[in-house]
Amino acid sequence: MDLGKRGLLALLSAALMSPAFGHAGEPPAHKDGGPAAAESGSAARQMMIGSMPAKYRALANPVAPTGQAVRRGADLYAALCAVCHGATGLGDGFGGEALGTSPATLVHTMGAPYASDPYLYWSIAEGGVELNTEMPAYADVLEPDEIWQVILYMRADFRCEVC
Ligand code: HEC
Repeated sequence: MDLGKRGLLALLSAALMSPAFGHAGEPPAHKDGGPAAAESGSAARQMMIGSMPAKYRALANPVAPTGQAVRRGADLYAALCAVCHGATGLGDGFGGEALGTSPATLVHTMGAPYASDPYLYWSIAEGGVELNTEMPAYADVLEPDEIWQVILYMRADFRCEVC
């Protein structure tokens, strides 16, 4: 990932923390169900599975799940994703508080049958552009191998005891 883009994302995170950001008048979606609500903003994406672009459908993770790859994924997750999805994937990052759609509880996602490698890669690469959510698109920010490292990390660490 190049440094200019990292800086841009830091700015985005800062903007999310500012009180000026958000949907005036609309209460944050996850206030009702709480941040751990199972649907947590991913219901629309699951309904879009059928229209996942063909280029993602046959993807398989080419990165071996070594300790090094998982640690690299953990670093990327902490730097880029935890602000919204929470340090442990509970969807409780403070950046999510002002969003119209609550960040997915990734511990639930990782235990769900729909969370195939193509689904996860597609979600991270294209973000919420098609769905009109605030999930950022990382296709131009992260190298493909970095996206796979984040996926390896989430598979290794995010488990939900109550799912
Ligand atoms: C600005 C806040 C924000 C950041 C930063 C963010 N996300 Fe998200 N993410 C969301 C929201 C909101 C959703 C739910 C709506 C959607 O699926 O588009 C979501 C959805 C997802 C989903 C789909 C989950 C499901 O069950 O369908 C995955 C996977 C995901 N994010 C992974 C990541 C990863 C990995 C990163 C970091 C590289 C990241 N996100 C960074 C806000 C964010």
